[in-house]
Amino acid sequence: MKAERNNSIGVFDSGVGGLTVVRALMEGLPFEDIIYFGDTARVPYGVKSVETIRRYATQITKFLLQQEVKALIVACNTMSAVAYEVIEGLSPVPLLGVVDAGARGAVAVTNNKRVGIIGTPATINSSTYVTAIKRYDPEIEIFSKACPLFVPLAEEGWLDHEVTRLTAQEYLKPVVERNIDTLVLGCTHYPLLKPVLQDVLGTDIRLVDSAQAIREQAHELLGEHNLLNQQPRTPEYRFYVTDLPLRFKEIGERFLGRALTNVKVLRW
Ligand code: DGL
Repeated sequence: MKAERNNSIGVFDSGVGGLTVVRALMEGLPFEDIIYFGDTARVPYGVKSVETIRRYATQITKFLLQQEVKALIVACNTMSAVAYEVIEGLSPVPLLGVVDAGARGAVAVTNNKRVGIIGTPATINSSTYVTAIKRYDPEIEIFSKACPLFVPLAEEGWLDHEVTRLTAQEYLKPVVERNIDTLVLGCTHYPLLKPVLQDVLGTDIRLVDSAQAIREQAHELLGEHNLLNQQPRTPEYRFYVTDLPLRFKEIGERFLGRALTNVKVLRW
């Protein structure tokens, strides 16, 4: 399969959270068509086994390749952390994952070389962020913490809620005590909690949002492969989910900051 410039970019996630990446792409690559896949029937992935996550990632990758996407972006940190090689093995088109983008972002931001990572249990247990950061700068010390409750809190829309604040205080305490100056938001949902997290952390700790980091990388990657649409055109956005789109639309519009249309349900 040959990637063509006018084909869409395929973006995928375990659910609705990857729309934070879609939003960053819409802003940074305004003339690109995007096909988004959110596995809303099987979310969350972050508490599932590596074997299961890889199986799901394989199915989604095959589906998006059938749609003739010109590039694939793994918006889900969990899939990016534990299934990237599997996806790479299947993909004839250029591929990006949020973990590498977040790692590069952290390396660029830290001054004291002490970095915190937060993510789902699967992401943190995989140590993929640690390996990725150390590859760019082996001197950086990394302190990781799984924060599984942040996903349901974000899905519930408790973005500025006392319960979220208390949860953040509890989760972040051991990381903050390590004198970090940078914290990687290693999960699609965490950018939504940014105000509360920044409040709890104080202004001395910088947050790295991998959704933002991937925007520049996507631009670079498409440019390198001569696949970038630079001429003004109205892009088409398509969204596929695996469960009823009602809740996807409601939460998704909050994630995306605009109305969600063109949503199709796939019965897998
Ligand atoms: N998309 C997942 C991630 O970025 C969070 C939701 C889940 O656990 O599936 O890690």
